[in-house]
Amino acid sequence: MPRLTVIGTGYLGATHAICMAVLGYEVLGVDVDGAKVARLASGEVPFFEPGLPELLVKALESGRLRFTTSYAEAGDFGDVHFLCVGTPQRPGSYAADLRFVDAAVTELAHHLHRRALVVGKSTVPIGTAARLTEMVRRLAPAGDRVELAWNPEFLREGYAVDDTMRPDRLVFGVASPWAQERLRAAYAPVLAQGTPPSSPTWPPPSW
Ligand SMILES: NC(=O)c1ccc[n+]([C@@H]2O[C@H](COP(=O)([O-])OP(=O)(O)OC[C@H]3O[C@@H](n4cnc5c(N)ncnc54)[C@H](O)[C@@H]3O)[C@@H](O)[C@H]2O)c1
Repeated sequence: MPRLTVIGTGYLGATHAICMAVLGYEVLGVDVDGAKVARLASGEVPFFEPGLPELLVKALESGRLRFTTSYAEAGDFGDVHFLCVGTPQRPGSYAADLRFVDAAVTELAHHLHRRALVVGKSTVPIGTAARLTEMVRRLAPAGDRVELAWNPEFLREGYAVDDTMRPDRLVFGVASPWAQERLRAAYAPVLAQGTPPSSPTWPPPSW
């Protein structure tokens, strides 16, 4: 099983980190907000989501879930890195503010010393993955051995646990068979339930 990091432990990231640990993965949650990391590590979910506090306790007790503010630890630990930072609307515009995504990818990249897959889950505009692929490969010591994929998230607040453990689909945007294989490995227990993987066939028709 690949070791997972979840970068950004807000609503989406905390839910993803907790559920993946309950599903059996070793997970490291990473956030720049030290107070949030401390609350999660002590077993407190900082927002209201039915069922999640019980699962956080279960995941912490399993020893498979930890939280940190250290990107060095994240780079060292993870095989697959899920990006779950916020992408708020820019004031006075419909455009997403990508500064948190860019900061997270930049920080993480400096600590990627071996082959790894970075998987965006945040909601971003078209073209972001291509730009971030160039960025992460330029900055990472592992260079082109780092790949980037996108796995957009559809969870609904109030149903986040069920939507994460039993989603009605998983969407994988990948650029290689290796990335597809890594993502499938990172979701093996979910796929085993019969969740349809809605990824384009490989290779894409225009490849
Ligand atoms: N919440 C939802 O229901 C939901 C559903 C689908 C998609 N999404 C998408 O998921 C993304 C995250 O949403 P959210 O609701 O979890 O946001 P959030 O504001 O609850 O959490 C974002 C987290 O990212 C952290 N962060 C910011 N910069 C960071 C950095 N450089 N490194 C590490 N952590 C950093 C923040 O401290 C915060 O804990 C957004 O793109 C959103 O559109 C959210």
